[in-house]
Amino acid sequence: MNPNIIPHQHAIQKADRHRLAEHRSFILWFTGLSGSGKSTLANRLEQKLYKDGCRTYILDGDNIRTGLCKDLTFSEEDRKENIRRIGEVAKLMVDAGVIVLSAFISPFREDRQLVRDLVNKGEFVEIFVNCPLEVCEQRDVKGLYQKARRGEIRNFTGIDSPFEPPLSPDIEIRSNEQSLDDSVDQLYRAILPFLKPS
Ligand code: PPS
Repeated sequence: MNPNIIPHQHAIQKADRHRLAEHRSFILWFTGLSGSGKSTLANRLEQKLYKDGCRTYILDGDNIRTGLCKDLTFSEEDRKENIRRIGEVAKLMVDAGVIVLSAFISPFREDRQLVRDLVNKGEFVEIFVNCPLEVCEQRDVKGLYQKARRGEIRNFTGIDSPFEPPLSPDIEIRSNEQSLDDSVDQLYRAILPFLKPS
């Protein structure tokens, strides 16, 4: 840490923002293979929270890998940097009083742990969207698994790049076994205790 960077104490703090919004802020961290349903679930859950009057924002490939992280590839090193930057952005958004729904493969346990360690206890909820590779590959919504199998894409998660599943996720969704509605209900019920203002 540079000793010449001295933080300014702002008058309005996170707790003030929570009182104004009437809910706490935290990160809902969806992790899982490509095509497992991370974005679909985040999208549906956000709509539910929005209807409740919550301040929310989704961080996903569409708004991150096209801007802040557009210089990054899918090498292990770059994925690490991708998650590090997203973690820092999510932390700022939590400070701003926003419920952040982040939908990234985030394949490495260590990187997810780094994000958890960036914020306070109770501000990081790991949601494992668990779906077997065969099912994701069969869905192949974007046709990327086919390309990876043909060798047209290198370092594709699940094919020639690893995915480390969470060992004890806060919430697990088995997206190939339960309906979307049931999954969203499960998520909503599980996060209600996190919403209460302190
Ligand atoms: S990571 O591992 O967290 O840095 O990846 P992420 O930023 O979530 O980006 C994953 C989306 O990028 C597309 N894509 C790839 N995924 C995995 N491996 C490789 N090599 C790759 N190349 C492109 C893919 O569509 C992922 O989108 P989702 O929404 O997960 O299907």
